[in-house]
Amino acid sequence: KKSEAWSALFSEPMSDLVKRYTSSVFFDKRMWQADITGSLAHAEMLAAQKIIAADDLASIQKGMAQIWGEIESGAFEWKLDLEDVHLNIEARLTQLVGDAGKRLHTGRSRNDQVATDVRLWLRSEIDLISGLLIDLQKSLVEVAEKNVEVILPGFTHLQVAQPVSFAHHLLAYVEMFARDAERMADVRRRVNQLPLGAAALAGTTYPLDRERVAKTLGMDGVCQNSLDAVSDRDFAIEFTAAASLCMVHISRMSEELILWMSQNFSFIKIADRFTTGSSIMPQKKNPDVPELARGKTGRVVGHLMGLITLMKGQPLAYNKDNQEDKEPLFDTVDTLKDTLRIFSEMVGGQLNPATGQKEGGITVNAPAMEAAALKGYATATDLADYLVKKGLPFRDAHETVAHAVKAAISHQVDLSELPLQVLQEFNPSIEKDVYECLSLRGSLNARNTLGGTAPAQVRAQITRHQARLG
Ligand code: ARG
Repeated sequence: KKSEAWSALFSEPMSDLVKRYTSSVFFDKRMWQADITGSLAHAEMLAAQKIIAADDLASIQKGMAQIWGEIESGAFEWKLDLEDVHLNIEARLTQLVGDAGKRLHTGRSRNDQVATDVRLWLRSEIDLISGLLIDLQKSLVEVAEKNVEVILPGFTHLQVAQPVSFAHHLLAYVEMFARDAERMADVRRRVNQLPLGAAALAGTTYPLDRERVAKTLGMDGVCQNSLDAVSDRDFAIEFTAAASLCMVHISRMSEELILWMSQNFSFIKIADRFTTGSSIMPQKKNPDVPELARGKTGRVVGHLMGLITLMKGQPLAYNKDNQEDKEPLFDTVDTLKDTLRIFSEMVGGQLNPATGQKEGGITVNAPAMEAAALKGYATATDLADYLVKKGLPFRDAHETVAHAVKAAISHQVDLSELPLQVLQEFNPSIEKDVYECLSLRGSLNARNTLGGTAPAQVRAQITRHQARLG
């Protein structure tokens, strides 16, 4: 119909360039299931309210079932001339069932239709993402469980700070991804509200039952203001914000995986299938997957900027600007889902059905981690704490230990390698038991407060996460 002019009002058709410019079908067709589902719920309500006849509803249902099959099998012919997914499906429906198809759009506008479609589509994607966030947390917890006693140099400023359990470090990411999942669940509540019934912007003259449509579509409620219903995209913005934050967490983890894999750390290996070689340097195995994830984080954050900027100058109510919400939103979802999937497997490995075990996750080089922790006087704080227990004020203890570290550096030994007489020169109250707190393991065990890195605490956290994640 649109290879002609839009309606009798128009004196000429669109130029081909304008058609291409305004058309969205080649990206919004991926919402086809939401579009049909929304239309069916609308039609069912129109019939219940006696706005259309029961046999019109039956024709619409029959036609839509056929269209569903055509799209699924790839037989459906998408037409640029028909602008978007909504007009393509409606035109085909009318072709199939005649006047009943023309009655479907009663009391509806593409403005409330598209807002509904995006919400339905996003809702199911959020559900997938929530599942993937659980998988990733489980992978991290599984690796943590095997590495509670493995000691990693904890860093601040990327300088060796204090020893931590490698499991404790991984569980820090579990906390982040758990909050990401909470944010997704919270966004979902606001996504899951029904715009349909707002029509173009002001509501409609037909006695629609919006609550009924919301119920049919499994939505939590109905948008309460018709102007807001058709023009709000803040649900998409907050989703993208939550996705950006999640990607930032992935990106930080990527940065660490990349560092840990570097020859100068050699803390871990990731399976070869997540790495690539070099076309010139035969010895290379590069961590492309975490690097790309770090890079793709920029792209998702960019989509957040794009969407938020899209909204800033729009007057109420619907404006065509909003058609630009889809590509950034779709790409955010695609990028986040792929990244979460790949990270679950890269960290935790793949289930081998023969053994029932997961294989090919990250491999931990515990001796390299411990050796690195031994390099940076990571137990200096423990020595200060030891002196405090002997009665020194903490600030004095801090200064005393600085002198001890200086001496150890000049002899190129660890604090634990200084003989007792030498340590006693710094403070005579130091006794033989000091060596217990100067060891990495002693230091670790001593941090036995809630949320601390002592193995007992870390095990308690693992148990809590396992119960939470099921
Ligand atoms: N393709 C449009 C979009 O994505 C659908 C709504 C069009 N509405 C309109 N009045 N032109 O937003």
